[in-house]
Amino acid sequence: MCGIIAYSGNRSATPILLNGLRKLEYRGYDSAGIAIHSDNTIHIYKQEGKVENLVQSLGNYEEDPTHEAGHVGIAHTRWATHGPPTTANAHPHGAGQDGVNRIALVHNGIIENYRDLKLKLEGEGCVFLSDTDSEVLSFLIDSHYKDDLAKAVSAALKEVQGTFGIACLAKAEPHKMVVARRGSPIVIGLGEDETIVASDASAIISHTRQVIYLDDNDVAIIEGGKVDIRTLDARPVKRETSDIDWSEDAAEKGGYDHYMLKEIYEQPTAIRNSIRGRVDLDKGTAVLAGLGLEPREIVDIQRLLIIGCGTSMNAGLVGEYATEDFAGMLSEVEQAAEFRYRNPIVGSKDMVVAISQSGETADTLAAVREAQEKGALVAGLVNVVGSTIARETGRGIYLHAGPEISVASTKAFTCQVSVLLMIALKFARSRRLSREAGIQIAKEIHRLPELVEEVLKQNDHIAKIAEDFTNYTSMFYIGRGYLFPVALEGALKIKEISYIHAEAYHAAELKHGPIALLEESMPVVALLNEGPGKEKTLGNVEECRARKSPVLGVITEGDEDAKANCDWYIEVPKSPQYTATITSTVALQLFSYHVARLKGCPIDQPRNLAKSVTVE
Ligand code: F6R
Repeated sequence: MCGIIAYSGNRSATPILLNGLRKLEYRGYDSAGIAIHSDNTIHIYKQEGKVENLVQSLGNYEEDPTHEAGHVGIAHTRWATHGPPTTANAHPHGAGQDGVNRIALVHNGIIENYRDLKLKLEGEGCVFLSDTDSEVLSFLIDSHYKDDLAKAVSAALKEVQGTFGIACLAKAEPHKMVVARRGSPIVIGLGEDETIVASDASAIISHTRQVIYLDDNDVAIIEGGKVDIRTLDARPVKRETSDIDWSEDAAEKGGYDHYMLKEIYEQPTAIRNSIRGRVDLDKGTAVLAGLGLEPREIVDIQRLLIIGCGTSMNAGLVGEYATEDFAGMLSEVEQAAEFRYRNPIVGSKDMVVAISQSGETADTLAAVREAQEKGALVAGLVNVVGSTIARETGRGIYLHAGPEISVASTKAFTCQVSVLLMIALKFARSRRLSREAGIQIAKEIHRLPELVEEVLKQNDHIAKIAEDFTNYTSMFYIGRGYLFPVALEGALKIKEISYIHAEAYHAAELKHGPIALLEESMPVVALLNEGPGKEKTLGNVEECRARKSPVLGVITEGDEDAKANCDWYIEVPKSPQYTATITSTVALQLFSYHVARLKGCPIDQPRNLAKSVTVE
C-alpha cells in the first residue's frame, strides 16, 4: 500500500527521504517521488517503477546545491488505485499555475467525492495532469490557500469524503510542512531539532524511537523539531508520545534471502513473545489483562464474534473452533467487510474480537466501529502497537510478533492463533473447563515454540518436495475441523506468492462438486494430522488418488498409515489438532516459499498485493 515519508529539520531532506522510501518498499508500490522545498521553490521529482529508478533519475543529488539546501520535503511510494502506475500519476502532486507549484502533496487513502470536487475545480480553471484523486486534493488545498497552509488544509479536508493520510508543502512557507490523517495512519517521529513523519514506523526507527500517532482528523503543523497538533477546527490537542519497542534490526533481512523466510524462522521467538506471561500453567488458564474483563463479566458474554480479513480471518476460524471446543460457547468468525455491509445482529452480550496484523485494515476498522455503535464489547488482536484498531478498541491483546515486513503474512498468523487459543482457554476456565483440562491445554500452548522449531528443521526436505510443484497451475487443499483453516491459509499463501491457483475445501465438500476437477495435473494437499476426522480425510485422499491426483500430506510424525497413502509427506510433531494448526501452517508456509523461490517469483512483494489494505 502507498507509503509516506516526510522530513523537516536542519539536514538535507533528499537522502533521508530516499532512504525512507527504501524502507517503505515492502508495502508494495508501483511508482515513487519526492518534493523538496529549496530556493523558495517546490521541486518535484517522480518516476514510474522502483525507488532505484527515482534515485538514478536524480543523478548526483548529494552534490547538487538544490538538494543540499532543501531541508524540508515529502515523499511517497504509490500503489495505483485511480489511474495506471505512470509517472504523471505518481506523487507528490503539485498544484498552482503556469507550472509553478504553490502546493505539493502526498496522499495515502481514497478521496471518494473526487469527481465532484474535480468538476468544480475545473470550472474554476484548474488544469489536472493526472488521473488521481490525490491531485484533486492538492488543487483543493491550493484553492483555499491565502497565506496559511494549515488553514487551507483544514478547509479542504472538511470538503473531502473518504480516507487520507497526507503531508504537504506550500511554496510561500518554506520551513513548514503540514500532515493530517483520517483512516490512514500517520506517525510523527520526534528527533532533535528535526521531525520525520511516515505512514509506518519502520521508515522512522533509524532516526528516532519517540513517536506520536495522529488521531483521525488531526492536523499537525511541523517546523524543524516543533510539532503543533490541532483538530480540523484549529483547536489545539495533545497527543501522547510513545516509544517504539522494537529495534531497527528487527525490520532488516538479517542474512535471509527474503523477509518472508526470516519471518517464518522468527516464529518460535514470536510465539514465545506472544504467550510470555500469559499462560498460567498452575491454574490452567490464560492471563489476558488487556481484555479488561473480570471472570464474572466473561460469564455474561454469550457469543464471541471474530472479525478480520485474509490471513487474520483464517486465524479467526481456529479461534471459533477452539472457543466452541474448549468453552462450549457460541462463537462465529466473519469476514470484516461482510460484517460491516450487512446489518449485523450484534449487541451488548457479544464480545467482538477484531484481528489485524497491521491494525489499519479499512474493512476491519469499519467493522470495529459498527460493532461499537451496536453496543458490543470490542477488543483488538493486533500486532502493530499504536495502530488505529489498537487505539480505537482501547482493549485487547498485542501479538508482540515484531515487525512483519513481507507482504505475505506468516508469523502474525501463528501468533494470532496462539493468542486465540489463550482467549478460548480463558473463556473456558471461566465456564465449564476443569483445572486439570485447562492445565493440559496450557501446557500444549506453552510447548508451541519448540514444536515450531522441530518443523523448521524440515526445511530442506520441504524445499526438495517443492521442486516437484513448480509446473502445476492449480491445486486443492483439504482439511477437516481445526485443519480446515490451515487448508485455507495454505491455499492463500501459495496463490499469493507463487501465483498457482489454489482452492481450499472442507475435505467432505470435495465430493459435492470439486471432485470433477481431479486428475493428474491437479495435486491435492491434505491435512492429515492425527485426531478427529483423520481417518475420514484419509478416505478422501484415496478418492483423490483413485482419480490420479497426486497427494502431499501434512501428517503427524511417525504415522505410517498416512505416509503409505501420500505421494509426498511432511511430518510435524505429535500434538492435539488445535496446536497442529500452527505446526502444519508453518510447514505449508515453507512449502509455498520454496515453490515461489524456485519459480523466481518476487516473494516479499507479490504482484498486485499490498501489506496494509487501507482502502475498501
Ligand atoms: C495474506 C495477508 C492478507 C492480510 C489481510 C489482513 O498473507 O497478509 O490476507 O492478512 O490483508 O491484514 P491485517 O491482518 O493487517 O488486517
